[in-house]
Amino acid sequence: MKFKITPYHFDLIKDSQRLSAFYQAISEYDGTNDLAYDLGCGSGILSYFLSSNFNEIISLEIDSSAYKCAKENLADFENVKVINADVLEYEFDRKADLIVCEMMDTALIDEEQIPVLNHARKCLKPEGKIIPQAIFNSAELVNLEREYIHWDENARYEVFSDALIYSEFDFMEDIDPNFETTLSLKVKRDGTVNGLKITTFTKLADDIVCGPTPMLNPPLLIPFEEKSVKSNEYITVKLKYIMGNGIESIELNVI
Ligand SMILES: C[S@@+](CC[C@H](N)C(=O)[O-])C[C@H]1O[C@@H](n2cnc3c(N)ncnc32)[C@H](O)[C@@H]1O
Repeated sequence: MKFKITPYHFDLIKDSQRLSAFYQAISEYDGTNDLAYDLGCGSGILSYFLSSNFNEIISLEIDSSAYKCAKENLADFENVKVINADVLEYEFDRKADLIVCEMMDTALIDEEQIPVLNHARKCLKPEGKIIPQAIFNSAELVNLEREYIHWDENARYEVFSDALIYSEFDFMEDIDPNFETTLSLKVKRDGTVNGLKITTFTKLADDIVCGPTPMLNPPLLIPFEEKSVKSNEYITVKLKYIMGNGIESIELNVI
């Protein structure tokens, strides 16, 4: 099958690790299911995977170029309906067996996964499921080269602490987008730290956890004022952000 695609969605489907994890999770559903929603369907690739396992798929996409691609790509699939809409304004009038929502970003800060799921979850049948199921986030102290918030593609940094899992979200539960925590991170070696690395792991199904991939939650690097550290000491960091409000919402203070 040839896919018409925007450059951004081309990068998304080139990421084979991301795609195969979603393919595997969707393949766990047999062909006896009724309705699935694909929220933020992009090129329509996940709707294409869903098309053999569900009687009906409703695919929503806010971006009009991506919507046009998905509509064309899925034109031959009579069980897929592609709609150009903002999920946050969409009135769900049907109950679904499954919601697939891949609006992921590291720690869910820069994309609308949380507000969208908080709005859409009510359209699930009582036994309905969500892919992905959950995420968990870890933090490490690092020494960064760059002085601004960035993702780790081609960025150089050195890790100075153990990784600490600091939060976990189950997508079946209503989630407060305002996140705040205090982390105590154990330093592994003497040196200078000036940043925090956040890594997000995605649980797509009971037996599928996908670590960061180039297009699925690449680690996020957040700078702070330089600090000398000694091996085995603990550094306390206050971290605050609003999930769905972008990286501008991040506040980080070393105490
Ligand atoms: C990370 S991309 C994933 C695309 C596709 N699901 C995939 O896995 O290849 C997220 C998509 O969600 C769309 N999106 C973001 N916010 C949305 C919203 N509020 N309503 C509908 N679509 C949205 C974006 O335009 C983008 O195409």
